[in-house]
Amino acid sequence: MRQQFDQLTAILKAYQDYWRHDPFIQIVSGQLPWQSQHPALSEWLSECSPEHIQTLKQSPLQCAEALSPFIPELHALQQAAVIDSIGEASHLTLPRGLDSGVPGRKLEQIRQMGSACIHNHHGSEWLEWCSGKGFLGRILSSQTEQKVTSFEYQQALCDAGQHEANRRGLSMQFVQGDAFDESSKQVFNANQHAVALHACGDLHVTLIHHAIGARLPALTLSPCCYHLIQDEQYQPLSELGRQAELSLTKQELRIPLQETVTGGERVKRHREQEMVFRLGFDALCQQNQVTEGYEPVPSIKKSQLSDGFEHFCHWAAAQKSLTIPQVDFEHFERVGQARFWKMEALSLVQSVFRRPLEVWLALDKALYLKSHGYQVSLSTFCDTATTPRNILLHAFKS
Ligand SMILES: C[S@@+](CC[C@H](N)C(=O)[O-])C[C@H]1O[C@@H](n2cnc3c(N)ncnc32)[C@H](O)[C@@H]1O
Repeated sequence: MRQQFDQLTAILKAYQDYWRHDPFIQIVSGQLPWQSQHPALSEWLSECSPEHIQTLKQSPLQCAEALSPFIPELHALQQAAVIDSIGEASHLTLPRGLDSGVPGRKLEQIRQMGSACIHNHHGSEWLEWCSGKGFLGRILSSQTEQKVTSFEYQQALCDAGQHEANRRGLSMQFVQGDAFDESSKQVFNANQHAVALHACGDLHVTLIHHAIGARLPALTLSPCCYHLIQDEQYQPLSELGRQAELSLTKQELRIPLQETVTGGERVKRHREQEMVFRLGFDALCQQNQVTEGYEPVPSIKKSQLSDGFEHFCHWAAAQKSLTIPQVDFEHFERVGQARFWKMEALSLVQSVFRRPLEVWLALDKALYLKSHGYQVSLSTFCDTATTPRNILLHAFKS
């Protein structure tokens, strides 16, 4: 793990120009920081057709192959970011109705994660951290008949989860509380195996600290939303992480999340249309001196997009109290389209660094837990189509 972490650190640092800059901001600011230093890559990107860009976006392997002539260490980077699958989860036979109310993809995630937790169980109770309605806890309780404590902030989710658990006679107790409050330590005890499915940023970091403090025998978590942290910058946990000096802002911590594979065609079409409109509106404003630089426009209801570009421009201008002149809107919509494909081409470069960055963040936590006497493994618990946030960190005291 140390070697893997060091290699990721070295390559991420060497190529930080390629991934730190947000492609959207590069387009609207007109600042393309690395382009003059890497003319061959810039030229190749400018020649990519929209069809080619779409193909490469859909196939990370093809994308890496296409970019490797320009990024010599790309293969080594991708190798260092490989995490093995946990393997075919043995099929959990759930009691009838246990899955009621669980949305389709979520059901697959909790089945896989539940199976992984049960097959690597250490302890005589469970603690489900930031449980929501406790879908995962329900599986753990029904399959192991051990007590589950489900800790959650939202009272309504606690109530719904407790009602369902009581109805099924499951040994689950929901505790409403704030993970960041000192009192949350009280739900931990040394018999528990703690689990957390998709606990955001500092929520999973807090779990790690409390689990170590309370000497939990095991901990299994899948992290998400890395940017939801209280500090402005990521605070590495491990010694190696701190030494790495790979500073990461909240904005940069969003990079691993920019994978939209679960979106579907309609979501993709809406995203493209909205981006084209935003980039076209920005060009209209900047070229007509309506604004001096990029002005962020609030989010819009997807249904409003069908009213067309001109309507979007008037709506956006009203939101920002701007007066726009009468212009050739079709022209600026075409400008938006061209800028969109330029942005998509730039994002191909950033995309090959996303997973390595995510694995780096997971390894930082894994190394920290190791230094506190845990045996730690990283694996993937489901395929990326089920959820791109599929990293599972499992730690147990040997
Ligand atoms: C991404 S959801 C995951 C929920 C559940 N584990 C699942 O996968 O279905 C994160 C959960 O954390 C809860 N949460 C957010 N902030 C919290 C806090 N400060 N303390 C405890 N829970 C919190 C949210 O209410 C939400 O239910």
